[in-house]
Amino acid sequence: MLLDLAKALKDWATENLENIGVYKDKSPKFEEFQQKLIEGLKKTYSEEALSLFFNRTNMRPLPSPNGFAKLTGPCGDTMQIYLKVENGGVTEASFDTDGCMPSIISGAMVVQLARGKSLNEAQQIDQDTVLKALGGLPDESTHCALLAANTLKEAIKDALSRSQ
Ligand code: FES
Repeated sequence: MLLDLAKALKDWATENLENIGVYKDKSPKFEEFQQKLIEGLKKTYSEEALSLFFNRTNMRPLPSPNGFAKLTGPCGDTMQIYLKVENGGVTEASFDTDGCMPSIISGAMVVQLARGKSLNEAQQIDQDTVLKALGGLPDESTHCALLAANTLKEAIKDALSRSQ
């Protein structure tokens, strides 16, 4: 399903405003606040990163994966990666996390990058690869890309050990 990013951003801003008690029908400045929130998010993340955040199709467990890893970063957030590997290549990949927005974005990017690659190629995906593909993350969130890349590496190790 194609993501309507403009609508997703508007809905996200509406939800965040409502969470702090600012409602469209009660606040004359609602649209101004909504715009400010959207602009802030757009300044922080690339369009690709935002699309991955709102399009959660790959944020789910895979049934009977043959490569899996679950890692918890120093921040306390956990990332899980599920792989389906056939003939030495990643045919399917998904992720799950209880982490922050940048960890969702990083998990989504790492599985997008891994899919369709040979295990050797997928093993080369590291924090830098993820950050470049995302057009960067805020400095304080670059470790989220590291957690996602490290979890992928562990899931690949798991897949390799199962094939021996
Ligand atoms: Fe922990 Fe993002 S803050 S993974």
